[in-house]
Amino acid sequence: MCGILGYTGDRQASDILLSGLAKLEYRGYDSAGIAVMNEGKIKIEKNKGRLKALEEKIKSSGEGIKGTCGIGHTRWATHGEPSDVNAHPLWSDDMSVVAVHNGIVENYREIKNMLANHGYEFYSQTDTEAAVKLIDFYYRQEKTPLRAITQAIKKIEGSYCFVLLFRDYPNEVWGVRKDNPLIAGQGKGESFLASDVSAILQDTRQVYYLDNMDIVQLKKGVVRFFDTEGYAKHKELSEVTWDAQAAEKGGFEHFMMKEIHEQARAVKDTFRSVFHNNRIDLYEHGLNDEAIKNLSQIYIVACGSAYHVGAAAQYVIEDLAKIPVRIEMASEFRYRRMPLDKNSLAIIISQSGETADTLAAMRLAKENGIKTLAIVNVVGSTIAREADSIFYTMAGPEIAVATTKAYSAQLIACYVLAIQFAKVRGTIDETYYEYLIGEIQKLPEKIDEILDEKERIREVAERFVNSRNAFYLGRNIDYAVAMEGSLKMKEISYLHSEACAAGEMKHGPISLIEKGMLVAGVMTQKNLYQKIASNMLEAKSRGGFLLVVASRGCESLKDDADFVFHIPETDEHLSASLSVIPLQLLGYYVAVARKLDVDKPRNLAKSVTVE
Ligand code: F6R
Repeated sequence: MCGILGYTGDRQASDILLSGLAKLEYRGYDSAGIAVMNEGKIKIEKNKGRLKALEEKIKSSGEGIKGTCGIGHTRWATHGEPSDVNAHPLWSDDMSVVAVHNGIVENYREIKNMLANHGYEFYSQTDTEAAVKLIDFYYRQEKTPLRAITQAIKKIEGSYCFVLLFRDYPNEVWGVRKDNPLIAGQGKGESFLASDVSAILQDTRQVYYLDNMDIVQLKKGVVRFFDTEGYAKHKELSEVTWDAQAAEKGGFEHFMMKEIHEQARAVKDTFRSVFHNNRIDLYEHGLNDEAIKNLSQIYIVACGSAYHVGAAAQYVIEDLAKIPVRIEMASEFRYRRMPLDKNSLAIIISQSGETADTLAAMRLAKENGIKTLAIVNVVGSTIAREADSIFYTMAGPEIAVATTKAYSAQLIACYVLAIQFAKVRGTIDETYYEYLIGEIQKLPEKIDEILDEKERIREVAERFVNSRNAFYLGRNIDYAVAMEGSLKMKEISYLHSEACAAGEMKHGPISLIEKGMLVAGVMTQKNLYQKIASNMLEAKSRGGFLLVVASRGCESLKDDADFVFHIPETDEHLSASLSVIPLQLLGYYVAVARKLDVDKPRNLAKSVTVE
């Protein structure tokens, strides 16, 4: 997590840094800070809390911060509580070296002890300060930023991305990354470093994607790269095609609502990216027919909502393509010592492409000789670059911390894989293949149809403003959607919520049901309507308020539910794409009614680059 920036050029650095950090605040907002170099001096302003507080502090100081070269940071705290002193940038004792950091220096205690033996003292509780002072330690011996950085990274363990100023090197910004994202932007007479593209898109579309262990030097309009031995390295410049407007709110009160409304487009674009001449074409994704036929097992590995996508995909792939699928939480998978099937495919799902656990799990799969296919949204992210093959979702930049449109795009990617696997392996015929494709193409319109009724969800959501607990129930694909609905509710509205496979209720969780408690049920699988209905009724007889999201035509709870929301019919394998929408809205409206910061829920960050 943490958002980091660097700038050098002819414009005032503080303006560029503050506006760029606003785009990165989704990565963490425990504190914010900038450092700007001017006439041989580096001035730092930083504070606990949001970027707004920093802007006001700088504005109220009257003179602002002058200078055309600087670095900035927005923090998601790992080591050391959110506080002014632990806010970045951090500096060496005489301000020779000033740095911002994203990641974790795992051996910071050891580094601190070593430096303490050389007379260094420490003023913060951060791991970053140890790294800054280690770089300073080598800088004093080696005399150049490049040599200091190459020495320091030999000692530092963990994941990191540092962006640095060296007081004796005016108009230069340095950076280095390991397992955390960093891109460099090239403008006319100016250059940039940033955690992601959205922060610099208003200034340049020409970017370099740094690889692990790349070292970068910015001068005005010049970007140079070096390897860990200090040798110059060539990198290709890429053109970003994302629309800068896409990263703005576009008239909605929150990014989350804007992104909920972008789902139809995300679904359409993701499907179109693999649909050529009326066929699904996965050739570019490294999946030829022979590879598909040889598969004996699929592992789907992901975290959070991406894991919930995998949970739905498991049912779809197993039922259509008849390939056994294991869905694995990346944080567990990476430490399991399970025997892995060599003829398998690991499908890695991640919006950011930077989630530490997912990345580690993918590397583990690769080390074990398993082919990896990553479903990723952020182009050029680490997972995208390290996977054997890549399926980009076309959701566009997702800003709200709670995912919606990336989730929907990931589902489409999974359906596409399931359908193509099934076709190639002969488990579905041409007629059903064409029918499924037709149904996917109708999803965008159906999603918009649901959104047209969002007012009904807003009204019912208000009932739960003061609720403390909720249950989400489902079976099969509907259980996967219940997990996602429940996560949406708890992460943004702070209403404690649990998802339960409906049949499991009676084995314990049912004791939690109280009068008036929200019990949301998902019902899209015809053969299970009656089963879920019975479980919902068990909750009702204990006082639960039954809210049902059901496919049109499902009448099972028509007289007993307190609120029913019907979604358009589709093939049952694709139902998650529709049933999730009312549940996203429910979480959103409860959070809004509770007057919470929907786009930036407490304690969370968009990109989870720590374990
Ligand atoms: C919840 C949410 C998270 C992410 C999870 C994985 O709304 O967004 O649960 O799904 O942190 O992130 P990615 O997909 O970036 O790997």
